[in-house]
Amino acid sequence: MKARKYKLFVDRKAKDVVVRTFESRSEAETVKIAKDFAKTLKPGDIVALAGDLGAGKTAFTKGVAQAFGVSADVTSPTFTIVNQYDGEEITLYHFDAYRLENVSVDDCDWLDDYFFSEGVCLIEWAQNIEAILPRGYKTVRIEKNISLGQDYREIVIEE
Ligand SMILES: Nc1ncnc2c1ncn2[C@@H]1O[C@H](COP(=O)(O)OP(=O)(O)OP(=O)(O)O)[C@@H](O)[C@H]1O
Ligand SMILES: [Mg+2]
Repeated sequence: MKARKYKLFVDRKAKDVVVRTFESRSEAETVKIAKDFAKTLKPGDIVALAGDLGAGKTAFTKGVAQAFGVSADVTSPTFTIVNQYDGEEITLYHFDAYRLENVSVDDCDWLDDYFFSEGVCLIEWAQNIEAILPRGYKTVRIEKNISLGQDYREIVIEE
């Protein structure tokens, strides 16, 4: 396969877990990385998006939505917790679990309908609901490094 210029390295950690690290220098580049990543996604997959406020989790989701053929604009589901986007073949569920911090497991029951659906779930602030995430989810961690510029991001994909 042709090497992509933004790929830093591939690290085979534990058996079955592959960690790939990319560097992005613009929102457009993050969208591109997400579009490529989306090609590996299958119905039922769950992706935890980690990273601070403004890291680029929603930007990454835009790339996945584009790859799925979603025409609607992807916006943050801050108040609704989840937004649904129907792609050409796969439905994308975009979550913002920011407000689910300290919410009990019982009050998160309704999320199972999404997690065990045929759609793909992308979850911002997934650490707030980690206890109820089905095992085997992928993780995308986006980190700023201001010393390398305002727009620099390191994107670490574990799958
Ligand atoms: N390399 C980059 N990748 C992604 N976004 C970038 C990059 N450089 C700058 N940005 C900017 O950073 C912001 C990222 O915002 P975004 O809403 O995607 O963050 P977020 O992680 O979803 O934040 P929140 O936790 O508040 O939902 C945007 O304004 C975007 O233009
Ligand atoms: Mg966001």
